[in-house]
Amino acid sequence: MNIIGKTISSALAGAQGPIEAGTGLFTKITEELTGGAAISPEELCTRINRAVTEAQTRLAAAADADEVEAVRIALMGRNGLFQALSKVIADVPKEAKREVGKAFNCGRAQAQKWLDEAGLRIERAADASESIDVTLPGRMRTVGHKHPINIIVDDCVEIFRRMGFVVASGPEIETVRNNFDQLNTPADHPSRDRGDTFYFADGRILRTQTSPVQIRTMESHEPPVRIVAPGRVFRRDTPDATHGMNFHQIEGLYIDRNVSMADLKSVLQSFAWEMYGKEVKIRLRPHFFPFTEPSVEYDFSCMMCKGKGCPVCKQSGYIEIAGAGMVDPNVLRNVGYDPAIWSGFAFGMGIERLAMLRYRIGDIRYLYENDVRFLEQF
Ligand code: DAH
Repeated sequence: MNIIGKTISSALAGAQGPIEAGTGLFTKITEELTGGAAISPEELCTRINRAVTEAQTRLAAAADADEVEAVRIALMGRNGLFQALSKVIADVPKEAKREVGKAFNCGRAQAQKWLDEAGLRIERAADASESIDVTLPGRMRTVGHKHPINIIVDDCVEIFRRMGFVVASGPEIETVRNNFDQLNTPADHPSRDRGDTFYFADGRILRTQTSPVQIRTMESHEPPVRIVAPGRVFRRDTPDATHGMNFHQIEGLYIDRNVSMADLKSVLQSFAWEMYGKEVKIRLRPHFFPFTEPSVEYDFSCMMCKGKGCPVCKQSGYIEIAGAGMVDPNVLRNVGYDPAIWSGFAFGMGIERLAMLRYRIGDIRYLYENDVRFLEQF
């Protein structure tokens, strides 16, 4: 009978005893072979086939790389089955050598193929389970987010955008002309003082307010004009809980025909409601600014005590948010607008103050220290 021609299953059927668990069968055969017992060439072929069949079954069932490796060592290792077989085959009588040699080569090639396949299957399964295991806790990425000052700026811009305002901007290094002269600020006004304002050697300054953006906008655009201009401004203050050497403002300017104080009030009222909710009341108090006439200061009812009076609002029930007013005819003339035709209002609000109110921040300096324990809260 051509032993090699036997199917693997019939080889198995012809084998004695049950298939051993683990690598026991391979070990047993290997031990028999190395033990020097006389084994007929036919029996040798049967054992090769049995071992290979066993390998196929075990590798198909292998659940992890360790199991595959155990089979590999038992079959292909230095003390493994095929090593032992190759020694025994040397003593097989000449006439049977071809058959047994064939069984050996085919068996070893087949076993190697199954080993490779099982290894690949387990590797793929590991990869696949990695990408689809939705039950694993996600890996948190630490991404940055907007600074509270930017959150407030963006919210303000969004609110005014809905009212028809567009964003304008100007440089932080300004001319005295744009920052003071064109804004109708008298030559002896205290804000021009070197003790209050940062001057460069060439006479330019760090802008003290966002109001020069009004001048830049009007000098480069025909009326009507409706802009907001957020940005950083600089003053020579000693830093404390409510002052810094630089802070942020958002400027507003609306120029058209027949703009009145009622328009100003309704815009400021709407802004307050949008920003802090309907329960906020606003109050306009007479004030003075060189570039507006009449001028007002614009207060929100205190959100901490709901207007009853507390340390934050210094018992007044109100908190100052902005300066505002009707644009002074002198300013309109300075930029070439005819005050007989055009009128308008302007306002300038402190961004830090809005942020401190919304987030209940007690000290302005937290906003600049870049301490992540603080910033993470927003
Ligand atoms: N620029 C003023 C300041 O920094 C705020 C201000 C007041 C702006 C009245 C205005 C305004 O546009 O009309 O104190």
